[in-house]
Amino acid sequence: MVFSLATERLVLDDLTLEDLPHIRRIGNDRELMRYVLIWLDTDEQIRLFLQHAIDEAEKIQGRRDYTLAARDRRTREFIGLTFIEIDPAQESTAEVGIVLLPAFCRNGYGSEILRTYLRFGFGTLGMHRVFGKCDEQNLPSARLMERCGLVYEGTIREHVWLRDHWRSTRYYGMVAGEYAAGRA
Ligand SMILES: CC(C)(COP(=O)(O)OP(=O)(O)OC[C@H]1O[C@@H](n2cnc3c(N)ncnc32)[C@H](O)[C@@H]1OP(=O)(O)O)[C@@H](O)C(=O)NCCC(=O)NCCS
Repeated sequence: MVFSLATERLVLDDLTLEDLPHIRRIGNDRELMRYVLIWLDTDEQIRLFLQHAIDEAEKIQGRRDYTLAARDRRTREFIGLTFIEIDPAQESTAEVGIVLLPAFCRNGYGSEILRTYLRFGFGTLGMHRVFGKCDEQNLPSARLMERCGLVYEGTIREHVWLRDHWRSTRYYGMVAGEYAAGRA
């Protein structure tokens, strides 16, 4: 059965093999991927990424990784790639991430998706902490997390070579008490 979450205007649901061209479109867009720490640079990486998402979706029990397509609720047009993943080393923590096709940015979709993942993460998954991270040069991503109430936690400096620069990563998080108090 396909897993899905509804936002106001979108549905977030499992990827299928038919999404390969969409993922390729994302991976091939160098500008879009500039600050994204996901390796979709080669056909093999794209294939492995999709296969991993499909394998996770097929798990009957113990699913930790929800890598989901964002689609228009009405037309089912593919809008972007999103995920919430329970940290393998910290059972009560989950990470969220969002990569939207450029045509769909700055429409408030990112905020809708992040709020939906906060609800799912603290609600259904019962997480104690939900966090997101971004390249310190990625202003839209930082603004998105701040707007949704995540708190800046710190920066790991220049810890990975990301295609054309040393990436410093800003961490933003929310804990269950903050969510319960209506911070999102
Ligand atoms: C980051 C991203 C998910 C934001 O999603 P979005 O749907 O555009 O975000 P929203 O429309 O909900 O806006 C969130 C905030 O970011 C701001 N913002 C969005 N795009 C921006 C831009 N290009 N420059 C500056 N601010 C921007 C919005 O104005 C808003 O801030 P506000 O509260 O001050 O108004 C989207 O831009 C994206 O997919 N970027 C490319 C991939 C990427 O870098 N993903 C993040 C990986 S960590």
